[in-house]
Amino acid sequence: MPYESMQQLKAQCMKCTYCPLCETRHNVVFGVGPEDAEIMFIGEGPGEQEDLKGEPFVGPAGQLLDEMLSIIGLSRRNCYIGNIVKCRPPKNRDPLNSEQENCRPYLDAQIQFIQPKLIVCLGRISAMQYIRPDFRITREHGQWFDIDGTKRMAMYHPSALLRDLSKRPETFRDLKSLQAMAKEHCTHLVFED
Ligand code: URA
Repeated sequence: MPYESMQQLKAQCMKCTYCPLCETRHNVVFGVGPEDAEIMFIGEGPGEQEDLKGEPFVGPAGQLLDEMLSIIGLSRRNCYIGNIVKCRPPKNRDPLNSEQENCRPYLDAQIQFIQPKLIVCLGRISAMQYIRPDFRITREHGQWFDIDGTKRMAMYHPSALLRDLSKRPETFRDLKSLQAMAKEHCTHLVFED
């Protein structure tokens, strides 16, 4: 790995100019959570609030993510949260393939340092990067895949759940599946009440 520590990786990432998103960002949104987290959530990219604060999932989708975590006894204290791209795409458009490819080595390195047991992809774009390029979120959310020594699953993105309430019952089932998987595979995870 080209980085000796997470700090070194972060320092490099915070001054990144590898793609044009650096020209419009206010902040690089590196990721948050314990560096020994056993569960990692991967979103798509920062929105307006995240860009302003430099933290992932702090806007409306983030509030919903916090609620989803708390339903199954998880929180930001015991999970790591990152994004496919670390700078906000203008007007919240989908990140371009070139932007995703440029940014991916950072998240790959974060995964290497953290060594999570479980990776949860939030939404299609994340699942297409970290599960399979032709991943179909409507058909395959909630299914577990063994990839490179981690168990991976995709759920609907919290922004999609804000737009479409009918997806929430399926997401509840996916969360319960995550909880069961975490109980089985995460050895030092402490669930919260
Ligand atoms: N949506 C994402 O995918 N990531 C964030 O950090 C915020 C909203």
